[in-house]
Amino acid sequence: MNIILFGPPGSGKGTQSTLLVKTLGMRQVSTGDLFREAIKNKTSVGLRAKQYMDLGNLVPDSIVLEMVEENLKGAPSNFILDGFPRNLEQANSLDLLLKKIGIGIDKVIFLEVDKKDLIKRLVGRRVCSQCGSVYHVVTKPCSIDKVCDSCGGAVIQRADDSEEVVLSRLDVYEQYTSPLRGYYKSLGKYNEVNGNRNPTDVFEDIKKLM
Ligand code: AP5
Repeated sequence: MNIILFGPPGSGKGTQSTLLVKTLGMRQVSTGDLFREAIKNKTSVGLRAKQYMDLGNLVPDSIVLEMVEENLKGAPSNFILDGFPRNLEQANSLDLLLKKIGIGIDKVIFLEVDKKDLIKRLVGRRVCSQCGSVYHVVTKPCSIDKVCDSCGGAVIQRADDSEEVVLSRLDVYEQYTSPLRGYYKSLGKYNEVNGNRNPTDVFEDIKKLM
């Protein structure tokens, strides 16, 4: 099954994708993770993307689309699109790309979470700089401060998780990404899951849709 997992920043897309990968062997295609990897490797895409990401703005569509196409061509089935598409132009381009490759999206799953909780989740989030494991200072702390439980790597705060940038990401989401709900409803692919619960309960509902 091919799905789009979508929702505001901090709604748990990465957390739920990790569970889908582990449990159902799906492949996660996260544009945010791909950009962060490119930044770490100091590639030209990474350098171009960083200036937009640091401010909480969307990276220009041309850069995003090239990267997604490259990624989907390799293994075009049983994937989760996480963080893409993020505006109507990207959704239209995705439709064209999938047509070209000869595959489709089976379901779009929207994670709905209250705004005040999104802010708490993002500002308190910490991530492993080595393996990408996700923590939270209150709800999911590392056993040893700033040391990853999984790989021993340094656990840090993402540059775009400061309160100021989080608020700007939420505004960008409302303006550009939220209208995709209507788009996918009109295609009859839209499903909504209440993401205001603990990750296990959210995952149980997602599994029922698979
Ligand atoms: P991206 O990395 O995609 O960030 P995002 O969409 O803002 O989403 P996040 O990764 O911040 O949150 P998430 O929903 O994955 O939540 P998580 O599971 O980590 O994008 C970053 C930037 O890259 C963008 O701002 C943009 O600049 C650029 N970009 C990316 N894609 C692009 C595109 N297509 N076009 C243009 N630009 C693009 O959880 C968050 C926290 O909450 C964690 O601490 C976690 O432990 C906790 N948590 C998770 N689930 C729960 C739960 N159920 N209950 C309590 N806590 C929970």
